[in-house]
Amino acid sequence: MERGERYRNPTEVQMSQMVLPCHTNHRGELSIGQLLKWIDTTACLSAERHAGCPCVTASVDDIYFEHTISVGQVVNIKAKVNRAFNSSMEVGIQVSYEDLCSGKQWNVCKAYATFVAQGKATGKMKLKPLAPQTEEEKMEHSIAAERRRMRLAHTDTLKDLLTNSTLQTERENGDCNTVVPAEKTRVESVELVLPPHANHQGNTFGGQIMAWMENVATIAASRLCHAHPTLKTIEMFHFRGPSQVGDRLLLKAIVNNAFKNSMEVGVCVEAYRQEMEVSRRHINSAFMTFVVLDQEGQPSTIPMVKPEAGDGERRYREASARKKIRLDRKYIISCEQTKVPLSVPWDQSNKVYLSYNNVSALKTLVAKTNWVLATEIDKVRMYTLEEDKYLSFRIEMSLCIDATQAFFLLSDLRQRHEWDRHYASAELVQQVDEDDMIYHVLSQTVSQENKPQDFVILASRRRPCDEGDPYVVAFRSVTLPTRPPNPEYTRGETMCSGFCIWQETAELTKVSYYNQAAPGYLAYVTTNIAGLSSDFYVTFKACERFLQKNKDEITVGLQNL
Ligand code: COA
Ligand code: ADP
Repeated sequence: MERGERYRNPTEVQMSQMVLPCHTNHRGELSIGQLLKWIDTTACLSAERHAGCPCVTASVDDIYFEHTISVGQVVNIKAKVNRAFNSSMEVGIQVSYEDLCSGKQWNVCKAYATFVAQGKATGKMKLKPLAPQTEEEKMEHSIAAERRRMRLAHTDTLKDLLTNSTLQTERENGDCNTVVPAEKTRVESVELVLPPHANHQGNTFGGQIMAWMENVATIAASRLCHAHPTLKTIEMFHFRGPSQVGDRLLLKAIVNNAFKNSMEVGVCVEAYRQEMEVSRRHINSAFMTFVVLDQEGQPSTIPMVKPEAGDGERRYREASARKKIRLDRKYIISCEQTKVPLSVPWDQSNKVYLSYNNVSALKTLVAKTNWVLATEIDKVRMYTLEEDKYLSFRIEMSLCIDATQAFFLLSDLRQRHEWDRHYASAELVQQVDEDDMIYHVLSQTVSQENKPQDFVILASRRRPCDEGDPYVVAFRSVTLPTRPPNPEYTRGETMCSGFCIWQETAELTKVSYYNQAAPGYLAYVTTNIAGLSSDFYVTFKACERFLQKNKDEITVGLQNL
């Protein structure tokens, strides 16, 4: 890079579009369908820049639209590849709009889409890895692995939650006494895929399909409210199979459920080749939430729907469950880690998102670049990071141990009292899944109320997703009804802490402990930095002895798995 030149991500692609009347709906606002086409094109070009070959849209994560855009304004879309996996890539997209008269800019939405490279006709494509440069790129690269995990589990997670949730199916009548049979909102529409709807290989653009889906969903929503609805969210969905030029796409939509101020419309897309063809391929299904805004931009009350018997009633119940899950997910995922209260209750319906939040918070801390070496004793180093409201610390050393051994030993909190004198004991309360556990920890540390502390901690561990990734063990506090606060203890909370473990050479492993310090830890950090205590050194040396002592045992345990 030339001196003074601004760094630019090599996969970054930008698109700017002036919103013209032909892009808008009757309210003079940019149609979301058009926006989805622009988003998909920009993201696809970014993916293709990295892959060097044609790519197709595999999935799109939840999108929340924060603003509507009016005719005459300019839409700016920026897309870049966050991470390449094997044949797929996560592309991060940011959409804003600007008012040319005032010069002001607003965020419209942030989206993540996965594209799959269509390299050779046979064999699986292996994309070249991406080398993130900036702090933000490193963070997105690291967290992309966690988002992928959540994405690939999405269908099962949803299925699981829908079967297990107990739902309130009746909406309170409140100030609405209109009930519309869902059947009246049903829409069926066909589209013929022509060359302008597809790439040069003849594959239909995902954005074009999304635009067609938004069109039928808007019609269904309008039939319920007899007004112009505004699309607020599109739930994560994936394209199950490709479609080509010449396909007929059958789009079906219906309002599944209406809540007080919003409604869920479901859309299903099927493809067939010839008019006489009986069998149809299921291309994708998506769920969209609409609101109806009044003159002041406030959401109005939506009429109730009466679902049809059978599938309609099932979809009605599932829409309620999806609403809860979507709100949980939005709350836990889209909030910055520090804005999610420490005491988030853990339950089956948010377990995937809390685990995501746990790991991504630690990865965000790890990706920070402004750590400062505060003190070092015998190659055990303590770093600090000062941010607005938080003081974080990191303790690091290199050991002669295999990274996998350290990973398994450090992720089991039941053994931690052997090396960490702050721990008295830890009980495994819930094995959430293979890599997520909830522990009840009793601490030796005495609180300001002169009582010992206890913690309920979610421990989430992750093996490397790729070469160069660390092993990660993340901890955060949660609350569990089965472990309420006990008057004999002060309930302590940890916001974000954990281990990152890198295999440096065949023999050497770097172990780093991170802690975004809650106020209770402040004295620990400052006395260590000031040289008034060497507690961090003593604890880490004890940790080293513990790892050395138990490493063979864990290896035998792993071999027997
Ligand atoms: N979300 C994100 N990525 C997904 C996914 C989902 N729901 N399902 C599969 N993938 C990824 C896999 O993780 C894998 O990535 P990797 O190679 O980096 O590990 C990649 O897709 C291929 O997965 P695989 O299991 O081999 O293939 P598949 O048979 O499930 O096919 C698609 C996945 C996306 C290629 C296939 O469903 C498809 O062709 N969909 C249509 C794509 C398209 O044409 N879109 C435009 C509009 S129709
Ligand atoms: P599910 O029935 O589990 O919701 P589908 O993929 O079959 O999943 O359909 C997705 C959504 O598409 C449905 O929730 C519904 O809103 C809509 N849909 C499906 N079939 C029809 C149909 N025949 N007519 C109108 N809308 C439909």
